[in-house]
Amino acid sequence: MVDGLVGRRAAQVARRRERSAAEPDHDCPLCPRLVAFREDWRAREPHWHNGPVPSFGPTDARLLIVGLAPGLRGANRTGRPFTGDYAGDLLYETLTEYGFAHGRYRAAPDDGLVLDDGLLTNAVRCVPPENKPTTPEIVTCRQFLERTIAAMPRLTAVVTLGRIAHDSALRALGERPSRFPFGHGIEHDVGAVRLFASYHCSRYNTSTRVLTPEMFKAVFARVRAYLEEAGDSPMSPTA
Ligand code: URA
Repeated sequence: MVDGLVGRRAAQVARRRERSAAEPDHDCPLCPRLVAFREDWRAREPHWHNGPVPSFGPTDARLLIVGLAPGLRGANRTGRPFTGDYAGDLLYETLTEYGFAHGRYRAAPDDGLVLDDGLLTNAVRCVPPENKPTTPEIVTCRQFLERTIAAMPRLTAVVTLGRIAHDSALRALGERPSRFPFGHGIEHDVGAVRLFASYHCSRYNTSTRVLTPEMFKAVFARVRAYLEEAGDSPMSPTA
């Protein structure tokens, strides 16, 4: 009994440590090109967030959603993933429709929107010039994705938005991307986690109709069905 309590307490303490290590410092020095870009924008727009954008949502969520990187005038300005970015309109609408968010999304971090059973993060936490992180930047930032995953004790499903997020999430889960190809609507079982691949909900993909809202919502409908089958929902009544 006492041993059980001690074990649970130790696991809680370890997870709390993982949670704080999962977020880079606001002045993270690891990627020189991204630091230079950030410093430039700090000088131009001193009231913007202009730093690594922390994950949004509860770490005891079963679902992890992995985007690419903050948009310059969106998440990099507001400090919340996808917030103020064109891509956030469809993403937050979809999360709300499938029960992963409640409240009203108003493109501001103080809009009161709450994520339910979902955590939203990016493969690269700092805004990259022209929205294009380099391979070394993706590799360097992966340690934070790995720690985010390690801090999620109930992780059951991962949605990857675009190929870069897909490959980085697979590597963070200890797998080779060549074993689990990317494609919209494709699902893979990666150990105990079901990975759902989606095209990124970017302005380019939606305006060219590479990704329609219906295609995007279909992925989250599958995730919801999968989690319902898996059970153990924080919202399901306890026996
Ligand atoms: N905003 C984000 O935070 N991530 C993306 O991938 C795109 C826009």
